[in-house]
Amino acid sequence: MKLFFNIQGGDFTHAGHPSSEVKKVLKQLNIDGKTIKNIVISMYEAEVNVVAHAYRGIINVEIDEKKITILISDEGPGIPDVELAMQPGFSTASKEVREMGFGAGMGLPNIKKNTDEMQIETTVGKGTVLKMVNYFS
Ligand SMILES: Nc1ncnc2c1ncn2[C@@H]1O[C@H](COP(=O)(O)OP(=O)(O)O)[C@@H](O)[C@H]1O
Ligand SMILES: [Mg+2]
Repeated sequence: MKLFFNIQGGDFTHAGHPSSEVKKVLKQLNIDGKTIKNIVISMYEAEVNVVAHAYRGIINVEIDEKKITILISDEGPGIPDVELAMQPGFSTASKEVREMGFGAGMGLPNIKKNTDEMQIETTVGKGTVLKMVNYFS
C-alpha cells in the first residue's frame, strides 16, 4: 500500500495530519499498538521539522506485510552538520517557533529512538530527505 502527503512550511495547523492518517491505516491493519506509537511519534516529529525548518515537503509512505517505509523529502536549507543536529537539545528553531511550543531539539533524537532504521540525506541550500523504516513485530 502506498500513501502520499504534502507538507507546507510554516503550516503548524496541519502538521500532524499525515501521521494521524497513517495511524488510522495501521490500526485497520491490526499492527500492534507499541509499533504504531513509535511510527506516529517519529513521523510527527519529521513533519514538524519540515514545517519548522523547510519551505515545503512531500511524504511517501509504503506499507507491506513486514514493514513501513516513510520518505520525507523537503525543499529547504538542508542540515549543515547532521551529527550536531542529532544531539539532544540542539535546535536552530526561531523564537516564533519556540513560542509555539516547538524547537526543544528532541525531534531527531526521538526519531532515532523510535525507528528501526533512519537515514538522512541532505544538501545545504537544497533540502533534506529523511528515510525511516519500522518493522512490524
Ligand atoms: N528538515 C529539516 N531541514 C532543515 N533543518 C532541519 C530539518 N530537520 C531538522 N533540522 C535541523 O536539525 C535541528 C534539530 O532538529 P530536532 O531534533 O527536530 O529539533 P527542533 O526541531 O526542535 O529544533 C533543527 O533545529 C534544525 O537545525
Ligand atoms: Mg524538530
